[in-house]
Amino acid sequence: MPLVIAIDGPAASGKGTLARRIAQTLALPHLDTGLLYRAVGVRCLEDGLLDDEAASIAAARMLDLATLDPEALRGAEAGAAASVVAARPGVRAALFDLQRAFAARDGGAVLDGRDIGTVICPDAPVKLFVTAAPEVRAQRRFKELAARGSDQTLETVLADIRERDARDSGRASAPLVKAEDAVLLDTSKLDIEEAFAAAMWVVRVKTGGG
Ligand code: DC
Repeated sequence: MPLVIAIDGPAASGKGTLARRIAQTLALPHLDTGLLYRAVGVRCLEDGLLDDEAASIAAARMLDLATLDPEALRGAEAGAAASVVAARPGVRAALFDLQRAFAARDGGAVLDGRDIGTVICPDAPVKLFVTAAPEVRAQRRFKELAARGSDQTLETVLADIRERDARDSGRASAPLVKAEDAVLLDTSKLDIEEAFAAAMWVVRVKTGGG
């Protein structure tokens, strides 16, 4: 079975950084699936059609992995728009095959998102659910945004994270939930090196490497 590593978790949990490092270490391709929803959300925002479900489904169907620009999609606005379109089953369905095809590559892949272990790759041999307390995630995201020149306050960032958590976990279609067989990694008290070491340990154990 190809080595598919599914990493899920809420916003700013550190799952993206972990996924990138794990992929680099194991020389596996990596897909940040949040970027897909962000790209659809931004397309709809730009067209003034965020409330238009059919337009968001059409945008999802037209999405091309090769044209994704992660830098342009990182902002808080893109994240909020992503969370809105991601609640629509038609958008999720339109992005399903693309994610499945990425995961089915020879040799394996690392995918991170909200529903990788539950919906996209339910048979993945390694599943991690990365989380941290909302206050810790807000603090991390706040620092990241400030470093990029944003003037958002910590309170706004925390409110945004709570709102996204509620929307991502409360939606009917593929809500954010830990897969039963996923290993829970709470990074509240871990720095990135400690979190990475813990994640690699899980990968080794799950792949029989002890
Ligand atoms: O991981 P992120 O912050 O880039 O994700 C942005 C939004 O996209 C998030 O609020 C929920 C949605 N998302 C999703 O529903 N399913 C995924 N697999 C990835 C992201």
